[in-house]
Parts: sequence; structure tokens; C-alpha cells
Amino acid sequence: KPQTLEDSWQRSIRYVRISVTDHCNFRCQYCTPESGAPWFPKPEQLTANEYKRLIRIFAGLGVSHIRFTGGEPLLFPALPELIAEAKAAGVAKRSVSTNGVLLARKGASLLRAGLSKVNISLDSLNKERFSAITRGGDLDAVLEGIEVARQIGVPQIALNVVLHQSSTREDLLRLAEFALVGNLDIRFIELMPLGSAGSTLYQRDFYSAQKAKALIETVFGPLQPEQDSPTDGPASLYRVPGFASRVGFITPWSHNFCAACNRVRVNAAGRLLYCLGQEAGLELREALREGLADRHIAQKIQQGVWHDKPERHYFEDVPDRSAPVFMMRVGG
Ligand code: GTP
Ligand code: 5AD
Ligand code: SF4
Repeated sequence: KPQTLEDSWQRSIRYVRISVTDHCNFRCQYCTPESGAPWFPKPEQLTANEYKRLIRIFAGLGVSHIRFTGGEPLLFPALPELIAEAKAAGVAKRSVSTNGVLLARKGASLLRAGLSKVNISLDSLNKERFSAITRGGDLDAVLEGIEVARQIGVPQIALNVVLHQSSTREDLLRLAEFALVGNLDIRFIELMPLGSAGSTLYQRDFYSAQKAKALIETVFGPLQPEQDSPTDGPASLYRVPGFASRVGFITPWSHNFCAACNRVRVNAAGRLLYCLGQEAGLELREALREGLADRHIAQKIQQGVWHDKPERHYFEDVPDRSAPVFMMRVGG
């Protein structure tokens, strides 16, 4: 009988999000403090070979989707090798979440290695606003990255927009139109009280998916819910009559989706994280370095997931916490 991962809430875990670096070439307002965030000490960062071992172990545990995240995962030089390793190990879906800046340069090598899907963050189509949110990010570089991903034929491309109260109506509608006309899936994400969005930004700038949906419907007409959503992610998807791509909403706050959770995370220091809202988890780095056999590491993971994966996230506890959970440390 093949081994699988299941938690004590009877959820089957088939999706692993692996953070390959906590470094990033952006400092998004909602992710990273202006002064930067504490990085993992260099010796703690997993090596390419350690990631490959973990990928094989997870494949042996029945994982069918591995997503590489960061920080910015394209900063990790061996990313194509990791994608190839996942493919060779039989992981059916291999995806990357990126800010898009390095896609123009690196997209082709990722695709050759076996990339199935790329999710690209795009919070605004207004140059000044984009630069303000990302603290200096270059919108044109990201747009070029999106164009290259399309031209080289990445099988699936989705855009991620974090919703802000301070986004203009015009900006949100432009993003929706850009995606629909360009045949790209787009998902609007509610701001989560994590990282530097922990307190003030979150309180000041939260904008619900419900409002965004209503706004989009004023221009594009009623959105039609798509029943069988073929993604592994938490987005609820809709179709817009007349367009091929889908509009999705990710609502960690207004509509909890944790009952359908199918995932765990590994951060760049080799800790298995059971939920986005916490940095606590199971230390795998030492197990890898102490020479524990793969099957013992697999057992450790199975037991940890079974005992310690929480039923849901508890973001409501986060805003006052003294040690915020940073997205680039948990992998988004
Ligand atoms: P697909 O829909 O399969 O492409 O994947 P995805 O939506 O899981 O991936 P992506 O990395 O694009 O994530 C989009 C947003 O959803 C990010 O802001 C994530 O932080 C958020 N997200 C992903 N997984 C979880 C989760 O388990 N819990 C919460 N609260 N948010 C999540
Ligand atoms: N709230 C919501 N989404 C966030 N992301 C990063 N920080 C936050 C936050 N506080 C998103 C990015 C990207 C993904 C990897 O995580 O926009 O789409
Ligand atoms: Fe970098 Fe993504 Fe965090 Fe922005 S949200 S600073 S792109 S890791």
C-alpha cells in the first residue's frame, strides 16, 4: 500500500509548498517591513541536494503537487533542477509563485525543467502605485515576465492581486480587464494580517473579496461560479460570459476555506509548517543533516502532520502578537 499523508481531521495532504529562499528582490508593504526582515542565518538555508531529497520523500508520500515559493523563488539558482527532480519523482504538478521580475530571463529554463504552472503577483497596473506597494518594484519588468511566460507556453498562468482599500476602482477593473482580454486567470486575495500587514496596514487597508466581486460585476455582468474547480488552491473561481479565463477570490478572512486544506509548507530553513498562520512546526533540517534515512524522515513527517496540523488558521490572534509571522519566512 503506498504511503500517504493524512491529518487527524481526515484531510488528505497532497500539496506541498516549498520555500526555496527567504530573500526577495521586492519588499512588498504587506509582506516585508521597510527596514527589511530578519533572514535565516546562511547555514540554516537548505541546499539544493537537501531540497531534492525532501522532494523525493514527499513524492513517496503521495504528494501530487509541489509549489516552489519564496521570498522570491527565482533567486534560487538551482530552481530548475528542483522542478526536474519533482518531475522525475513522479510529482504530477510542479508550480512556482513569483513576483515575475526574473521570469523573462529564467522562464524558459523553468519550462524546460517541467514547470506546469506559474502564479505571478501583480497588485496594480499603475506604475507609481505598483512601485509604492512593492517599494521600488518595476512594473514593466513584471509585465515583460508575464509576456514571456505566455510566449514560451507555460501551460497555466495565474495572476495574484492582493486587495487593498486604497486601490482605486479603476485600478482593480483594469487588472480584471487585462487578465480577461489577455486570457489569463486572475485571483483577488484578501489581505491577511501577517508579516508587515500584521497590524496597522491590515486595519487600514483591508478590502473584502465580496466588494471586489461586486465592483467587477458592475462592468462585466454577473460572475458565474465554476462548480468543479480544477485548482489545488483555495480560490473560488468564476467565469465571465464571453471570456475563456477565470476570475477567482481567495478569502482567508471573510470565508474560511481551511476545511478543504490539502497542503503543508516547508520553509527555507527546512522546517515543516502545518499552517500559514504559524512559524511553529517540525524541524526537518537536522534530521536531513544527521543522516536519518529517508523512510525515517517520511515517518516523522507522517506523524507530525497527523498530530499537529491545526483544524484552521487563527489569524485573529496575530495582530497583537509580538513576533509576527513573515510571509517570506513561511513561504506565502
Ligand atoms: P493554485 O490556485 O493551485 O494555483 O494555488 P494557490 O492559490 O494555492 O497558490 P498561490 O501561491 O498563488 O497563492 C495565492 C494566495 O493564496 C497567496 O496569497 C497565498 O498566501 C494564499 N494561500 C495559499 N495557500 C493558503 C493557505 O493554505 N491558507 C491561506 N490562508 N492562504 C493561502
Ligand atoms: N496578505 C495576503 N497576501 C499576501 N501575500 C504576501 N503577503 C500577503 C498578505 N499579508 C501574497 C502575495 C503573493 C503570494 C505569494 O502571497 O501577493 O501573491
Ligand atoms: Fe517578495 Fe512576494 Fe513578499 Fe512581495 S510578497 S516582498 S514579492 S516575497
